Amino acid sequence: MASSMLNGAANLTLYRGIAPKRLNFAGSDLNGKHFPKTGLVSYGANFRARVKTLVPKCSASASRPTSQPRFIQHKKEAFWFYRFLSIVYDHVINPGHWTEDMRDEALEPADLSNRNMIVVDVGGGTGFTTLGIVKHVDAKNVTILDQSPHQLAKAKQKEPLKECKIIEGDAEDLPFRTDYADRYVSAGSIEYWPDPQRGIKEAYRVLKLGGKACLIGPVYPTFWLSRFFADVWMLFPKEEEYIEWFKKAGFKDVQLKRIGPKWYRGVRRHGLIMGCSVTGVKPASGDSPLQLGPKEEDVSKPTNPFLFLLRFILGAMAATYYVLVPIYMWIKDQIVPKGMPI
Ligand SMILES: C[S@@+](CC[C@H](N)C(=O)[O-])C[C@H]1O[C@@H](n2cnc3c(N)ncnc32)[C@H](O)[C@@H]1O
Repeated sequence: MASSMLNGAANLTLYRGIAPKRLNFAGSDLNGKHFPKTGLVSYGANFRARVKTLVPKCSASASRPTSQPRFIQHKKEAFWFYRFLSIVYDHVINPGHWTEDMRDEALEPADLSNRNMIVVDVGGGTGFTTLGIVKHVDAKNVTILDQSPHQLAKAKQKEPLKECKIIEGDAEDLPFRTDYADRYVSAGSIEYWPDPQRGIKEAYRVLKLGGKACLIGPVYPTFWLSRFFADVWMLFPKEEEYIEWFKKAGFKDVQLKRIGPKWYRGVRRHGLIMGCSVTGVKPASGDSPLQLGPKEEDVSKPTNPFLFLLRFILGAMAATYYVLVPIYMWIKDQIVPKGMPI
């Protein structure tokens, strides 16, 4: 997979007045200064064909070593991570990374245009994103799926979600029939999936012909310290990886919209926990054309408890850095005069 990663965002179609060179990483130092705050980007069908002419200076697409630990990008570790995080998730964690404004902006490309649509919110957790979905779709048509009963318990308490179906399940093995939903939404969950390509293949399978997937997730940092902590914590995909995964799963009209907290002023060098909203349309009914081998992780297999604990502690420590980054950016935003780069 790594070797086939897209090199540079070639053959882009850009919307909302963003100049193409902004996403041609060849001229970018990738520290965020040259990135638009938000934008909608679609990658053309022959995007791999032009790879050689657009080799980035600091490749946003170069494959990352598989040895990077990403201690919490595992199902058991993520389960325990959210066992504790669910207690403070809505009130302490989300406000730094995932605001209501961002959520609404990220859901816009999902095209939730009809109240009767059948929607699945995968990795729906406490239902924060689902609250954005039920503004447009009747709650009775929405299913929230998550592997953490502790997160789901919080969703169950929310009045607007009372009519949603709430189920435990695995994003990489969805309990929905093929061609089931009009929309697949997943926000802030892919970073914990051991095999993200499998999750996106599942998104494809469960959608109806013409249905749309909207996957909201992190983006990889370029600043060295942020990169270090990101790699210790979990998966921060690069934009090109999302596109590649969507295309390989069989999606058409794949687009990526950049998002981020307002007070970052468009800075992306520290990466973003919620950094983009990627959408794709299912062009034919049935399963994804992509064939995959057996699952990477078998949660029923026993784990070494010491190794597990070590992974868990190191991963959680690295996550703490990302609690501090938005606070640091917020202070900078307060101090640095408006209109100046931070
Ligand atoms: C950062 S929270 C996002 C919750 C919610 N979507 C939101 O927008 O606030 C990530 C969620 O993904 C869930 N998750 C992680 N891995 C999963 C998997 N393999 N299958 C289903 N859910 C998963 C976690 O339990 C957690 O609730």
